[in-house]
Amino acid sequence: MNHANNPFLGQGLASTTLRPLGLEVKGAAGPWIHLKGGGKVFDGISGIGVSNFGHGHPAICDSLHAQLDLNLHTMVYGEFIQDVQRQAAASLRDSLPPHLDSVYFLNSGAEAVDAALKLAKRLTGRTKLMGVQGGYHGNTHGALSVSSNETRKAPFRPLLPEVSFLNWNDMADLKHIDPNTAAVIVETVQGDAGIRIPDKAWLQALANTCRELGVMFILDEIQCGMGRTGTTWAFSQFDVVPDILCMGKALGGGMPVGAIATCTHRMSQLAHSPSLGHITTFGGHPMACAGVRGSFKALAQVDMKQVETQCQTWQEALASHRAVRQVRRIGAFMAVEMKHADHVSQAVTAGLQPAKQGETGVLMFWFLSVPHAFRLAPPLTATDREMEDGLALVLKALDNVK
Ligand SMILES: Cc1ncc(COP(=O)(O)O)c(C=O)c1O
Repeated sequence: MNHANNPFLGQGLASTTLRPLGLEVKGAAGPWIHLKGGGKVFDGISGIGVSNFGHGHPAICDSLHAQLDLNLHTMVYGEFIQDVQRQAAASLRDSLPPHLDSVYFLNSGAEAVDAALKLAKRLTGRTKLMGVQGGYHGNTHGALSVSSNETRKAPFRPLLPEVSFLNWNDMADLKHIDPNTAAVIVETVQGDAGIRIPDKAWLQALANTCRELGVMFILDEIQCGMGRTGTTWAFSQFDVVPDILCMGKALGGGMPVGAIATCTHRMSQLAHSPSLGHITTFGGHPMACAGVRGSFKALAQVDMKQVETQCQTWQEALASHRAVRQVRRIGAFMAVEMKHADHVSQAVTAGLQPAKQGETGVLMFWFLSVPHAFRLAPPLTATDREMEDGLALVLKALDNVK
């Protein structure tokens, strides 16, 4: 195959698909991504759950600038202490229940998941891991092992041994959790499965079963956290509290960061027997932590009531479009399910087409595992006027499906 026309492979860069969007970015501000050709796109997915506070938020930029003037990397994580790490961890802890009082900053969501799984094995002395059908936790070997999409896993087997899956929202299935299980990991709201919102009773029963059997209950809020579902952390809406919480994406305000939180006693197990039980050169990087510090300041400025009203308007308008079957939504996290799977690509492509021609478009995106729906997750900081513009662009794209 000739890769010369692939904008990544053709220019000496790795590509994740043979048909990347390949739009050339000039800059980004608020909900808008500006392109080199003069076009712009409304970021309807916040960079897949990263830019929850828009692009170039002053609180995040100020925090980054302040740290840039001090220092970048000094020493691998875990030896020197830096104010910015302490400040970022304090902001994060303030947002969490009291027993999640210890934070480990890592480099990505998948790395946070791997750390959580290792910690669970270390804490319980057990080896079995459980995920939930529809779950997506990242692409390292560990995170892929507990994700459920077999098509994406098969070429990379063997993955971790002793991994099995519970059915989503299935009370009867909880009997498969046994005393040899180290951990169950679940997204509080499943993202890649098409914004699947759990039954509160099921999630609570899952948490209780884990507690009774001494199994670590790990919640993955890498995508659904940081205000995306209408509260800082989604688990507060379901009255459950994890033993270990995985975070990432919007946590860093645009900087690459992942994190786990648990109680100090549990976290201390990574420091001995063996020592250096989970180490990383760049974890807790000062710029990433400055991003975290800034993003909590940005989050504090979000008017969640306004976001709810805006997104309710989006949901109603989109659900009544002729091509749409239904819109699943919690907060600003939406899956638009189409009547025909073909319409997903048509809508996504139509949304971007004007921007390719120097005009205004909108960025919507596929799910990896749900062919008949596309995702929407607009920035939480967009003004009413910007959200009206964004909705008009999405509706215009939908009008193009045939
Ligand atoms: C729920 C969830 N967990 C984990 C990950 C992996 O995060 P990362 O891509 O930063 O490794 C993702 C990424 O999309 C995710 O949505």
